[in-house]
Amino acid sequence: MRPAGRSGDGGPPVDPRRRGRITVKRESFPFRKMTVAEMVSASEEFLAALKRRRTVRDFSNRPLPREVIENAMRAAGRAPSGANRQPWRFVAVFDSEVKRKIRVAAEREEEEFYGHRAPGEWLEALRPLGTDKRKTFLETAPCLIVVFLKKYSVDGRGRRQLSYHAVESVGIATGILITALHLSGVASLTYTPSPMKFLNRILDRPTEERPFLLLVTGYPAEGATVPVIEKLPLGEIATFIGDTPD
Ligand SMILES: Cc1cc2nc3c(=O)[nH]c(=O)nc-3n(C[C@H](O)[C@H](O)[C@H](O)COP(=O)(O)O)c2cc1C
Repeated sequence: MRPAGRSGDGGPPVDPRRRGRITVKRESFPFRKMTVAEMVSASEEFLAALKRRRTVRDFSNRPLPREVIENAMRAAGRAPSGANRQPWRFVAVFDSEVKRKIRVAAEREEEEFYGHRAPGEWLEALRPLGTDKRKTFLETAPCLIVVFLKKYSVDGRGRRQLSYHAVESVGIATGILITALHLSGVASLTYTPSPMKFLNRILDRPTEERPFLLLVTGYPAEGATVPVIEKLPLGEIATFIGDTPD
């Protein structure tokens, strides 16, 4: 039994006014201080690297090192999340039979989508990208990473623990995943068949996990090209309020 008035680890007596309060242990962390010149140079390097990221739809079947996928998932797992609930789950599929099942199920949905489900306006927006109902990449690419959003988890006493801001959290983690893969030499395609429920069945995932998106990963096929698109300039995506000191 804990001695009265003492903290659990045998430390100094607990201030009675603090009893019952939730306290968390705190620690220092390895924040890297940089000079302004280093900061500018790092931001420029990162921007230059991200300018080379493009969505690839034509993959080679060359296998990917599993360690690179694992490290990218670890990096994504470092993302911030609402109340630190970490509501993401990643399933990496290397198995060709499972990939085939995903392709068959996805193409069934795509048939409906391109056939009659998609509004004309949506099909019009997709036209410049040249996408259609055939999803060969689901079998050719060496690895499919399916990202699931965990709506809640169940604690040891069978109680549901809700995720907070799960969409935002999983979106941030996915952005980090795509970036980590890209910076490790892996190309990707963010693929979102609709609906995606078939992924629960094929991958045997519980109902509290909702498929968020499927990241097709690998190397671009020899001679692969990408659509010519434009990115909005800073002036259109950002607004600055107030001056900075420099
Ligand atoms: C949430 C999301 C869903 C997407 N879904 C698809 C998709 O189902 N099929 C596809 O070919 N591309 C899909 N894309 C890729 C976009 O078309 C692509 O990111 C966009 O055209 C910009 O091209 P970039 O990634 O090369 O900059 C998706 C992207 C995002 C972010």
